[in-house]
Amino acid sequence: MSTNEPSIPKWLKAAMRIDVLTLFPEMFASPMGSSIVKRALDAGIVEITLTNIRDFAADSYNKVDDKPYGGGPGMVMMPGPVFDCYEHVIALSPQKPRTILLTPQGKPFDQAKARELSMEKRLILIAGRYEGFDERIRIGLGAEQLSIGDYVLSGGELPAMVVIDAVVRLLAGALGDRDSAKDDSFSDGLLEYPQYTRPEVFRQMKVPDVLLSGDHARIAQWRRQQALERTKKHRPDLLGDRPYDPGPSEGPNP
Ligand SMILES: C[S@@+](CC[C@H](N)C(=O)[O-])C[C@H]1O[C@@H](n2cnc3c(N)ncnc32)[C@H](O)[C@@H]1O
Repeated sequence: MSTNEPSIPKWLKAAMRIDVLTLFPEMFASPMGSSIVKRALDAGIVEITLTNIRDFAADSYNKVDDKPYGGGPGMVMMPGPVFDCYEHVIALSPQKPRTILLTPQGKPFDQAKARELSMEKRLILIAGRYEGFDERIRIGLGAEQLSIGDYVLSGGELPAMVVIDAVVRLLAGALGDRDSAKDDSFSDGLLEYPQYTRPEVFRQMKVPDVLLSGDHARIAQWRRQQALERTKKHRPDLLGDRPYDPGPSEGPNP
């Protein structure tokens, strides 16, 4: 991770470049500095560049926001600094980017979108603050708008981190075990089946016998059935018109 400086040697081409435009680049230090994203950065799988929109303020007060025309509470992000910052960032790489504006008014971000974005070579994520973006930022940049959920956060930094984490873990080589993401919830439109590890019995709760059987076909069938039952119980909306046939029941359904 860097501020305008590539974080990998020039000779090593990262699979993906992500540029983030933000007023709070320091917020990214912790999530980008640990676990899978850090490993992907260290391995040169992804390159992440943070650029501070405030560096593109036009006045000596570093002003990037102003009162809304027509009155009302709060401040709105001015178009000038965002456009200047964006044009600066575009020129940092010859790679054509897919640009995303983080906003609660955007289309919902989900696993299918994460998968789609993981195919891109370059993403530009723009994080808002205050009461949000001047409308001309939306119109002028023509960016795709994404929301991470039906709630309002104070800024787009956490949503940008959510998108980065969900996308980076899908890049080839980012996860230790290549199959780790394959069975994750939402990967095939279902919640994931229940997982167990040692010990076999914990506080009188026992691991289902089928998982100790060594019979891979039965285990796969049990997991499928559990995933279907769990999805029907907690997220029936995900099933849509899919025929619901969990098959014969075996073991508990937590
Ligand atoms: C306080 S919010 C502004 C909300 C705006 N007044 C509205 O009602 O649409 C400030 C910034 O946080 C980010 N943000 C807040 N909630 C978000 C969400 N659910 N998804 C994506 N970005 C969000 C956006 O970048 C937004 O510009």
